[in-house]
Amino acid sequence: MAAMKNIVILISGRGSNMEAVVRAAQAEQWPARIAAVISNKADAKGLAFAASHGIATAVVANKDYPSREAFDAALQSVIDGYAPDLVVLAGFMRILTPGFTAHYAGRMLNIHPSLLPLFPGLHTHEQALASGLAQHGATVHFVTAELDHGPMVDQVAVPILPGDTADTLAARVLEQEHKLYPRAIRWFIEGRLTVEDGKVHVDHTTH
Ligand code: GRF
Repeated sequence: MAAMKNIVILISGRGSNMEAVVRAAQAEQWPARIAAVISNKADAKGLAFAASHGIATAVVANKDYPSREAFDAALQSVIDGYAPDLVVLAGFMRILTPGFTAHYAGRMLNIHPSLLPLFPGLHTHEQALASGLAQHGATVHFVTAELDHGPMVDQVAVPILPGDTADTLAARVLEQEHKLYPRAIRWFIEGRLTVEDGKVHVDHTTH
């Protein structure tokens, strides 16, 4: 069997996607370990879940650094201390410097709560409601220098229903995120993902 892969997960808050990944990795016995969960906020709720599951946690607080570059350099050295094969952004609410994204090119994933390329950035659920579209969703993509862009691994769509508020819509999307993200990460760990011309190919053959 191939060597265990190391996954480092970055969060800023609730951490429900991180939790879904941890649970899937355990339940499905991935050939991977969650080596660490790192937050830029000391009060991120998800840190307690990670610690209670025996996962190393760390805080690198952006407020302690004078610039984005200084923060990203500090974060990078903490991440790299865990020798990650994959870095997973899970509600990590920071704009990343080009140097940081280049360092993790091809080995950093993000989940964004919209059907990209629609609605990059914040307030996606409000934007989806205002758009009049019949569907909304979430996207897992490789991280590149441009915010919420980068080759897309997988997407899920949900209906926008009459009477929806940003909260009801967000909850419907989040429930699907918790299935979408672990599956995409598992594909990465299993070596099924290749990127060519900015497009992701998923190898679905058994191996
Ligand atoms: C999710 O909707 C994710 O797509 C977005 O931020 C939210 C994070 O939620 N990037 P959680 O911290 O994983 O619960």
